[in-house]
Amino acid sequence: MGKITIRVPNKDFFVNEANKSLRTNLGFCGKDKKVITFTSYSPGEGKSTTVINLALSLTDIHQKVLIIDADLRKSSLMHKLKAVGIEKGLSHYLSRQARVEDVIYETNVKNLDMMFSGPFPPNPAELLGSQLFGMTVTSLKEYYDYILIDTPPIGSVIDAAVVAEKSDGAIIVIESGAISHKLEQESIKQLEKTGCPILGVILNKVKNIGKAYYD
Ligand SMILES: Nc1ncnc2c1ncn2[C@@H]1O[C@H](COP(=O)(O)OP(=O)(O)OP(=O)(O)O)[C@@H](O)[C@H]1O
Ligand SMILES: [Mg+2]
Repeated sequence: MGKITIRVPNKDFFVNEANKSLRTNLGFCGKDKKVITFTSYSPGEGKSTTVINLALSLTDIHQKVLIIDADLRKSSLMHKLKAVGIEKGLSHYLSRQARVEDVIYETNVKNLDMMFSGPFPPNPAELLGSQLFGMTVTSLKEYYDYILIDTPPIGSVIDAAVVAEKSDGAIIVIESGAISHKLEQESIKQLEKTGCPILGVILNKVKNIGKAYYD
């Protein structure tokens, strides 16, 4: 396993509080909910940001966390975390060009490991739908308290549904005011078809949280 340094975002009070309550709610979903897929209907609603912030919040209370960047089409975590020196990622592993230990990186954040996406393969959904991915996630559960999986928007490609099928639960990130109720329902329907329980919805980018929060 390689070792890397990542740069994590500065903690904003409200983001921190929101993530603490998310962490608590996740705890109430039960100990068997370890592998969680994050998705949204459309791009840019905040999936990757949410995955990072929640992972940091979980490591704060000494939970061992693995983030998997399963957005093989437009991966962003390497860039967001300013990670350098990554040689192999999930697409290498799933196409059998690397071993699992080559694609998991220990980070400078205690208890946080990362699996980055690797280069854009020609067949992302097929790789993510493979038995290998499912078996790997299942066997990694032994080593981690939580495995948080970042995926592409479910309204554009099938990848998130394929990953959700191999997860213990899914969380939908919704950008406040960005999409219609009808489209939100579409993502829920897509996920329900996979049989993966939907643990909840995160309403992201809510404006004027300050006063409204206390009111
Ligand atoms: N709660 C928030 N408040 C303000 N800005 C946010 C918030 N959450 C995310 N953002 C910003 O919104 C943009 C999109 O966020 P992010 O990359 O996490 O979305 P995404 O759903 O993963 O996008 P994609 O579908 O492209 O992968 C980023 O610039 C991010 O910094
Ligand atoms: Mg993203």
